[in-house]
Amino acid sequence: MNILLIGSGGREHALAWKLGQSERVTRIFVAPGNGGTATTTKCRNVAISADDLPTLRRFAQENAVELTVTGPEAPLVAGIVDYFAAERLPVFGPSKAAAQLEGSKAFSKAFMARHAIPTAWAQVFTDFEAAADFVHELDTLPVLKASGLAAGKGVLLPENRDEAVAQLRAMIVERRFGDAGATVLVEERLYGPELSILAFCDGKSLQLMPAAQDHKRLMNGDQGPNTGGMGAFAPSPLATRALLTEVERTILRPTLAAMATEGAPYRGVLYAGLMLTESGPKVLEFNCRFGDPEAQAILPLLQSDLLDLMEACAHGSLAELEPIWSVESAVTVVMAAGGYPNAYDKGKPITGLPDGATPYLPGAVADAPFDSTENLRESRSLVFHAGTKLRERGVILTDGGRVLAVTATGDNFAEAVADAYQAVDQIHFEQAVWRTDIGQSAADESKRAGPTR
Ligand code: AMP
Ligand code: GLY
Repeated sequence: MNILLIGSGGREHALAWKLGQSERVTRIFVAPGNGGTATTTKCRNVAISADDLPTLRRFAQENAVELTVTGPEAPLVAGIVDYFAAERLPVFGPSKAAAQLEGSKAFSKAFMARHAIPTAWAQVFTDFEAAADFVHELDTLPVLKASGLAAGKGVLLPENRDEAVAQLRAMIVERRFGDAGATVLVEERLYGPELSILAFCDGKSLQLMPAAQDHKRLMNGDQGPNTGGMGAFAPSPLATRALLTEVERTILRPTLAAMATEGAPYRGVLYAGLMLTESGPKVLEFNCRFGDPEAQAILPLLQSDLLDLMEACAHGSLAELEPIWSVESAVTVVMAAGGYPNAYDKGKPITGLPDGATPYLPGAVADAPFDSTENLRESRSLVFHAGTKLRERGVILTDGGRVLAVTATGDNFAEAVADAYQAVDQIHFEQAVWRTDIGQSAADESKRAGPTR
């Protein structure tokens, strides 16, 4: 089977690697792809941008593509599922109506209110004066959210009311986020740890993935500016059986049921960004696709065939297909270009990458957490490319802000963290930056709990 995979980040390299393991997959065209997908088994990059739906559809028709998978949200929110369906081309993901759960924060907030799904309460504004008045009436500091897609930058956390009013003016009057910020949610600020819970959905049933935690801030200890995500780990120790049951019962199942009754059955990956507050888990946002970098931690734990799961989502047969997950722990460290999330250079050569057709980094490592060369075991680290491009055979250049996502799986988090950083240490490019505390909280937890082997 030929697959068309849309996108160019670390998430897409992980999807390409995992889909390529399916015996039924012959070829994966990646539009536009990156330096990693250019060199992954069964993959071929095609120079079509992720938002050029007419060219993508023509390509799918002309190349016998039987399934299209999109990494980023933009094509889903723009309606690629409906647009391809008109030519009988299946796409993994929600319809345009269902993708509004991510595409319009005003829609998803109203949806959650209608169906009593726990979330921060919010008011929606298109008028600056009314929004500013509301900020002064609030007991707590607000969170400001552009309603439309703003490339992950549309959420602001002002430190005082004057800053909030200035930010509202920038969004509504000065259109800092373009039309995406013409409608703004002024939302109650919640406190607690954050958790990403992703599920495969087929319109009526769902199958959970291991819960993940992202690290959104640039620097150690959650300091510095927000980024697209500097690392992730899964399964999160916060996600106890009881918590997962509660999230399914109060959030995921009601969402799926209500989307179906509202005439927009949800198929694809539903990503619930949650905050675990004192009064229970609440939704910060829904996304209509895999997370990045969550996918790079979650997918290496999947032992089942990803293509089977994606097809079951499309055919409504997910209830009969329970995915099998490894019991290992996975940690993903993002290596970024110095300057990210602001301006950064591109075109720096990267050395120390695995060569050949798989993203595995070969080599044995000293057994964690002891620095002993006598106790060597096989490293289970994988290097997913994000902002990279292939210049010529064997020469990979940086080509984006988040450059690589280095994942290691291990028997526990201490081992996975040690292996991921050991792999990071083998890779070099000028001005590379990364956090050194990814997964540390989970590793501390697993050390306290003792070895799981
Ligand atoms: P979002 O894109 O909606 O996930 O928001 C980005 C980040 O802003 C989240 O990961 C949270 O850290 C923070 N955030 C969003 N909404 C709230 C809220 N209501 N209270 C506190 N923090 C929030
Ligand atoms: N890691 C956050 C996201 O994918 O939206």
